Amino acid sequence: ESYDMGGHDTYMHKEISEQADAVDRVLRGRIDDRFSTVHLGGLNLDAREARAVRRVKILGCGSAYHAGQIGAQMIEELARVPADAEPASEFRYRNAVVDPDTLYIAVSQSGETYDTLAAVQELKRKGARVLGVVNVVGSAIARETDGGVYVHAGPEVCVVSTKCFTNTAVAFALLALHLGRIRDLSVADGKRIIAGLRRLPEQIAGILRDEERIAELAGEYANAKSMMFVGRVRGFPVAREASLKLKEVSYVHAEAYPASELKHGPLALIEPAVPTVAVVPDDDLLEKNRATLEEIKARSGRILAVAHREQEKADHTIVVPKNEDELDPVLMGIPLQLLAYHSALALGRDIDKPRNLAKSVTVE
Ligand code: AGP
Repeated sequence: ESYDMGGHDTYMHKEISEQADAVDRVLRGRIDDRFSTVHLGGLNLDAREARAVRRVKILGCGSAYHAGQIGAQMIEELARVPADAEPASEFRYRNAVVDPDTLYIAVSQSGETYDTLAAVQELKRKGARVLGVVNVVGSAIARETDGGVYVHAGPEVCVVSTKCFTNTAVAFALLALHLGRIRDLSVADGKRIIAGLRRLPEQIAGILRDEERIAELAGEYANAKSMMFVGRVRGFPVAREASLKLKEVSYVHAEAYPASELKHGPLALIEPAVPTVAVVPDDDLLEKNRATLEEIKARSGRILAVAHREQEKADHTIVVPKNEDELDPVLMGIPLQLLAYHSALALGRDIDKPRNLAKSVTVE
């Protein structure tokens, strides 16, 4: 992968299209079938230290923060360590309690985002152990952290992050599997996740082959007054990231909410001019999500679902391939990157350089 446009009209399109190869790269050389785990050479965290971790706190901004939210859920599920993500920009200003038993993880594509770097420096000053999940090799955050996992997405030129978001989520899956296998994740579950990881590149290629249909759907939804994005648990960070993507590149106003929170207020916004994009994985929350679709329909809301099978209550469904439940968020965001891209195209936006935004925010 290079800076050459390779026949694409925009870097965003090029980078979305590169994701099967990018995910292949983040996996390459890391899977250890013998012990049903992964090797993460740069982690600098031995098994005894990994077992002593009582909590994981993930810090990043924008898309990196959303990928960190996916990562926190994966770590909780696979390693059974309490984990959460917080915007690095907030963390550094709130005089947070720095706990010696917490493993801190800074996430960044560029490795140069000032808020994330400042959070790392503050943590280091207070004696915390900080790892990086970073794309750009040798960047400031990569240098300042104690170790970490490179994301290997390759150069990302478009201001709007796509392939790096996906690869970061996969890098977190690797880290979660690694921590899980050091702790209590069984060999069988390790094998199950590894098989799921191996399926990802082909499944991504399959999603990308559906681009024409997603472009048609973008044409139908691009003129919305505002868009609502909802998801539960694993679907929520996907909804948040998709909402950010749409805002950044198409300038269409969008809100992201946990589906379970709709009835606590945002349902008042639902009307035909405010469609909802619902992330509906085929997991143990499927019935709850279907009930949410019914609630939206009852208020005359239009629904575009991203799901593992057609959703009756939705006006349209983008069907994505099913993987292991824990890995579903990696795939479910990809059609929504295409939705944002084609909405922006339909609205004639400057896709690679959205107004008011810079690729990396290196100042306060
Ligand atoms: C992503 O589409 C955004 N442009 C933005 O939110 C970005 O993810 C954020 O500024 C963090 O950048 P970083 O990953 O380089 O630290």
